Amino acid sequence: MFAAGDGQPKCSQPARYRAEVLGRTRLCDEHGLLQICVPAGFAARPGQFVQILCRDEAATEAAGPYLRRPFSLAGQKADKHRTVLEVVYRVVGRGTAWLEGRAAGDRVDIIGPLGNGFTVANDCKEAFLVAGGVGHPPLMMLAHELSRHRIKRLAFYGARRSGLLPFRTERVDAFPRDAEPVADVDEWAACETPVVVSTDDGSAGFHGTVTEALETYVARNGLDPTRLCIYACGPQRMLAGLARQVARWRVACQVALETLMACGMGSCQSCVVRVRAMDAPDGWRYKLCCMEGPVFAAEEIIW
Ligand SMILES: Cc1cc2nc3c(=O)[nH]c(=O)nc-3n(C[C@H](O)[C@H](O)[C@H](O)COP(=O)(O)OP(=O)(O)OC[C@H]3O[C@@H](n4cnc5c(N)ncnc54)[C@H](O)[C@@H]3O)c2cc1C
Ligand code: FES
Repeated sequence: MFAAGDGQPKCSQPARYRAEVLGRTRLCDEHGLLQICVPAGFAARPGQFVQILCRDEAATEAAGPYLRRPFSLAGQKADKHRTVLEVVYRVVGRGTAWLEGRAAGDRVDIIGPLGNGFTVANDCKEAFLVAGGVGHPPLMMLAHELSRHRIKRLAFYGARRSGLLPFRTERVDAFPRDAEPVADVDEWAACETPVVVSTDDGSAGFHGTVTEALETYVARNGLDPTRLCIYACGPQRMLAGLARQVARWRVACQVALETLMACGMGSCQSCVVRVRAMDAPDGWRYKLCCMEGPVFAAEEIIW
């Protein structure tokens, strides 16, 4: 078993950085990609996250939310002098709207890396990466890591409609309708990971949810539970559905949760998740998503 990220510099201790914005790119109607730069030495594992202060440091709360906002890392490129981090955000409120307003040269106050990150078992020879909505960032980073370890990869990505597919490609109309993978979807192609694309309204790719696309793919191609691992991130309902599927297939599955958080560092207890615990009197206990997660075994969670 290795923690995803092994073989690279070890995951660094959480610290506060005044990161410099290198650029921002719009990916779809709601998602943007922010590239920020921190000094060399920052090292995160896929599945870890950063807490971003989504307002100017000196500004009052009126200029942005008081609490930091958690974001998974979508990418990390380090050299001797600096580490470039990628964050993909979906604009849903004040904090993410503030991120949307950042430009090259701005400073962003972040704390990280936080949380546990994904682990990859030695017997994992093949991985399905299942993402819905804005769940793809930690899986993009994991795909690069699995590629380094030569583990075969296939991604499943689902959005509500074609305008919410976070791909730069213009060819969304050409995505197959029958849950067949495409090899050259821009960001995923960079880590040689084919993708099955689905939309809830059928406006691109498979018509249905990402878990229905996965079910269709598995019904046609089968799976080998002795070599396959599934990694997922997305809305809670999607992950709960996936947990039922993987229990039926007896496949190991890790999910990255996006539970509402405040401090992100174990102090406020606002991010509890109910998990099975045989040693607890009632057979369950709470875990802190920020410290003991955000990655959990799907079978551990009481959905
Ligand atoms: C570990 C972790 C990793 C995350 N990674 C990403 C990421 O990579 N990209 C990304 O876009 N978002 C990610 N999120 C969610 C992100 O933190 C929230 O969308 C963000 O905090 C919203 O801030 P806001 O000020 O814009 O919205 P707010 O004004 O705080 O909220 C706007 C609306 O969004 C809802 N909301 C806020 N947070 C969440 C959440 N976690 N889940 C569901 N609904 C929420 C609120 O209830 C409200 O209805 C992650 C969350 C966690 C816990
Ligand atoms: S967010 Fe404060 S304890 Fe987890």
